[in-house]
Amino acid sequence: LQVSKGARAYANHTYLVKLVEAAVIECPDIPIALHLDHGPDFETCKACIDGGFTSVMIDASSKPFAENIALTRQVVEYAHDHGVVVEAELGTLAGIEDEVNVSAEDSSYTHPEEVEEFVSKTGCDSLAIAIGTSHGAYKFTRKPTGDILSIQRVKEIHARIPNTHLVMHGSSSVPQEYLEEIRKYGGQFRTTYGVPVEEIVEAIKYGVRKVNIDTDIRLAMTAAIRKYFVENPEAFDPRAYLKAARAASVEMCKSRYIAFGCEGQASKIKPLPLP
Ligand code: CO
Repeated sequence: LQVSKGARAYANHTYLVKLVEAAVIECPDIPIALHLDHGPDFETCKACIDGGFTSVMIDASSKPFAENIALTRQVVEYAHDHGVVVEAELGTLAGIEDEVNVSAEDSSYTHPEEVEEFVSKTGCDSLAIAIGTSHGAYKFTRKPTGDILSIQRVKEIHARIPNTHLVMHGSSSVPQEYLEEIRKYGGQFRTTYGVPVEEIVEAIKYGVRKVNIDTDIRLAMTAAIRKYFVENPEAFDPRAYLKAARAASVEMCKSRYIAFGCEGQASKIKPLPLP
């Protein structure tokens, strides 16, 4: 379960952590990680590490290489002392995601020749890489091909750091069915394409172990709520339309979990002792 800085501000840190603690009680057979997405600084990461998160991301990718290493290293040292794992980022993605806003000109692919030094100097557990994906719903104006979405780059990076889990941000597939549904029930959407599921499945063969698909969850919920309101114009109980939204998000996540090979893996994940 991943929480951005914006989501943490929206929902309140303590409520979020207690909700996840409740989920741990309700679903004892499912190992649950609580992860901070795009931690902007040491203080935010420390607050999450001290406050019940099991995993944090420090995103210093907009800083120069040496500064990214230094800040990531600082978070890794504190996190590992507290049994928390760290995701770092090298290369920057275009697009908008809560607090993260990078223009297309400022985005740059991860350079494979930098990853070994970065991982060995920082000790990060996983690495977010930029391979042409972008945050938000507006990723590509046409179905992406190999020249804009570089699975080849995933292979090159994985070959250099085979023991580091790779992370794909901005990897929603932006299914056309959701866009059509949203338009059909009164919403507006410009033409846009996401990252095809089959491309992600290919990347998973080369070390990708975390795939961020928040936009797809947002689209699924929005489509369901719009449909519900149009079909039930007199409805006003939030539980009714949020139930529809919840069902749509469950269905969407389930189909991705199955496509990504997560099915049946829970029992293989064992917590590591602190030392
Ligand atoms: Co991201």
